[in-house]
Amino acid sequence: MRNDSPAPPALGAGGAYHIPVMRDAVVALLDPRPGRVFVDATLGGGGHAAALAAHLAPGGRLIGLDRDPDALAEAGRTLAPFAEIVTLVQARFDSLPQVLDDLQVEMIDGILFDLGVSSHQLDTPGRGFSFKDPDAPLDMRMNPAAGGPTAADLVNTLPERELAALIRENSDERWAARIARFIAERRQGTPYRAVGQLVETVLAAMPAGARPDDKHAATRTFQALRIAVNDELTILGHALESAVDRLNKGGVLAVLSYHSLEDRIVKQLFARLSGRGEGQGPYGTRPPAVVELLTRRPLAPAAEEVAANPRARSAHLRAARRLPD
Ligand SMILES: C[S@@+](CC[C@H](N)C(=O)[O-])C[C@H]1O[C@@H](n2cnc3c(N)ncnc32)[C@H](O)[C@@H]1O
Repeated sequence: MRNDSPAPPALGAGGAYHIPVMRDAVVALLDPRPGRVFVDATLGGGGHAAALAAHLAPGGRLIGLDRDPDALAEAGRTLAPFAEIVTLVQARFDSLPQVLDDLQVEMIDGILFDLGVSSHQLDTPGRGFSFKDPDAPLDMRMNPAAGGPTAADLVNTLPERELAALIRENSDERWAARIARFIAERRQGTPYRAVGQLVETVLAAMPAGARPDDKHAATRTFQALRIAVNDELTILGHALESAVDRLNKGGVLAVLSYHSLEDRIVKQLFARLSGRGEGQGPYGTRPPAVVELLTRRPLAPAAEEVAANPRARSAHLRAARRLPD
């Protein structure tokens, strides 16, 4: 970690909205400096973005993206002290090439993806992300204005087998088939509208002895539906590839993921781009390395951080640096 850097904003920056996870490690890996151009692809409350922006002036620039309009508004407040160097855009991160083209920015020096949902999204009554909010509509869209099916639409309309596959593949839920069967039976009488209805079904489908001790029994089903509603895994693969294309030589891509499906996508892409993946070039040769890994194994938060912010507990931080040609 550089020790000549300006003091980062207080940890509380964006903190009530969402406490930035592994903030100092993220900043150390991305190495923001005056004059550099950075992207925060997942602004949330702007906590990471503020820590990066503090190092980019003078002469640098921070471009921040989020698909959720609430996040844009909150990040705008958090980043107000850096307004001169900050540009915020409501966009999905797989549209990064278009966003950069529109801003006439060809290449960037660093980019952060802090995946998943923010504490604010989880804790806001009415958005349907949390099973703790039984009366909330079963929605889960990060950007409701963009339309698209809600979680209720999926559980009410998908054939039972597709629903089981969706839950299993997006969360490794062992009880996926039984949960899908219970949903398919119950929706015939009353379509699903509220979070509490789905929680009741999951609890009914899972024998008490099979419920996990360390998390709510509905956690995996909710995660699976959220991933599907927001098409999170498909978008991630495309976005990471295009981010590397726009990185200057020496530029760094850092990714914080929170479950094994996300981390697998990051790990496999990094392996391929660093020349360690399966041979995919002509005659099974490996294509030349485009990046070097800055983290051979993912970094995890310290025990003190997890104690202070339990939502950090599953974080995996990986980073890679673009190589010279
Ligand atoms: C974990 S939070 C980021 C928190 C942020 N680093 C901070 O310090 O507050 C993840 C954010 O990414 C956003 N997000 C998730 N998927 C996205 C996508 N495909 N495109 C743009 N934003 C996305 C969510 O709306 C959410 O605000």
